[in-house]
Amino acid sequence: MTSAWELLLPAASAPARARGRALQAALRDAVRSGRLAPGTRLPSSRDLAGDLGVSRGLVTEAYEQLTAEGYLRSGQGAGTWVGEAVRAARPRTRDLAPRPAGDRVDFVPGTPDLSLFPRAAWAAAQRSVLTDLPHEGLGYPDPRGLPRLRTALAELLSRRRGVVADPERVVVVSGVAQATALLAGVLHARGWRTAGVEDPGSPQHCALYASAGVGTVPLPLDDEGLALGPLRASGVRAVVTTPAHQFPTGIAYSARRRAELLDWARSVDGLVLEDDYDGDFRYDRAPVGALQGLDPEHVAYTGSVSKSLAPGLRLGWLLVPDWLADDVVERKRTTDLGHPALDQALFARFVERGDYDRQLRVCQRAYRERRDALVDALAEHFPGSRVTGIAAGLHAIATLPERYGPEERFLARVTGAGVAVRPLAAYGHGVAGGPAAGKEVRLVLGYAPLTPGRIRAGVERMAEAV
Ligand SMILES: Cc1ncc(COP(=O)(O)O)c(C=O)c1O
Repeated sequence: MTSAWELLLPAASAPARARGRALQAALRDAVRSGRLAPGTRLPSSRDLAGDLGVSRGLVTEAYEQLTAEGYLRSGQGAGTWVGEAVRAARPRTRDLAPRPAGDRVDFVPGTPDLSLFPRAAWAAAQRSVLTDLPHEGLGYPDPRGLPRLRTALAELLSRRRGVVADPERVVVVSGVAQATALLAGVLHARGWRTAGVEDPGSPQHCALYASAGVGTVPLPLDDEGLALGPLRASGVRAVVTTPAHQFPTGIAYSARRRAELLDWARSVDGLVLEDDYDGDFRYDRAPVGALQGLDPEHVAYTGSVSKSLAPGLRLGWLLVPDWLADDVVERKRTTDLGHPALDQALFARFVERGDYDRQLRVCQRAYRERRDALVDALAEHFPGSRVTGIAAGLHAIATLPERYGPEERFLARVTGAGVAVRPLAAYGHGVAGGPAAGKEVRLVLGYAPLTPGRIRAGVERMAEAV
């Protein structure tokens, strides 16, 4: 028996009921992986059955099945060969599982503390939804989202974020990313070919617009938000913004800039996409209400549970102006036939029962403490450093004095010491190469997933490294 037939041996010893299927699967695998090369002649069913110690019928059936599928071909008269049409699957070289982080302290922004996920409340909501959901609830959902969830979200978002949110305006999506992609697709279909993005800003925004065929124009910021002059001069009619807590600089748009931005949108008959990715978390005062509340026909508002519960849930919302609503819903329908119904019902219950508000309070307490720990540790270990941006969200900007630079050397040293950080410059997508690089070291530090002790240890380790 050749080694290829040995590959089939485990299948031959499978329990009798599963043996036929196991044999077929093993044979399919051997062909797909290239271990049985195209053109190889297979032994007769009688010989193979004898070698494997299985009935001849099982082998005949496996040959017939795989011949029908195209893995094998039978020749004139007797004989079966491995088909030429099959291409061996190339082994993937990339790791599918994330590498263990070891002792690394990770300040890369973007992730909440996943250990704060409210597993017990979530499990209770899951059980109750499964018990109560009528059979019809498992059919294709309304592409706008379950009415129950849209109603709960409308109440939540108008109460917490000051948005104009009647349930008819709400579309349930799989996150800010999908909201952005849907809008970009709709705008593209209407002939809009460019959109402005904040510079520095989220690389995701550019990538999502680009994937819909809409080019992005990087627009600079000043202390109050998007700079108006370059926006007006750019010729765009759509712009993506993060006014509650600009990503990554951490500034909040001033009241004046918010008004000017809306004036601009009205003057060009345009659209502001408001990405409220972490707008619930503000530590020095109550969060400023969303821009959308001031002009819901010129602002599309989006947010998600990615910072408050877990990004892996892929659940978010988009509130659209009336004039875009039908197009966005149709696009959502043709993209995926609607958001998973069980997840929606579960989250609706979670919101209705106050569990979501409770979760936001838990996160708010934890993240405020962590931000304070970061600010204190930087003051202690990097004298002269400044933390800029408002006290909000899941990250802060730290500017370290020139003596710690140049930035490249700083980054190399702290990386070598097992601390992961991102420079602010990494978020620039302007032609000039991003935020004006001085001699200071400017870092975007995500603190949410780290305990205060770990934050202090990480900052201390950075200081020792430089
Ligand atoms: C600026 C910004 N908006 C939104 C998101 C979240 O997108 P989603 O809701 O699709 O997870 C991120 C992710 O890190 C982000 O950086």
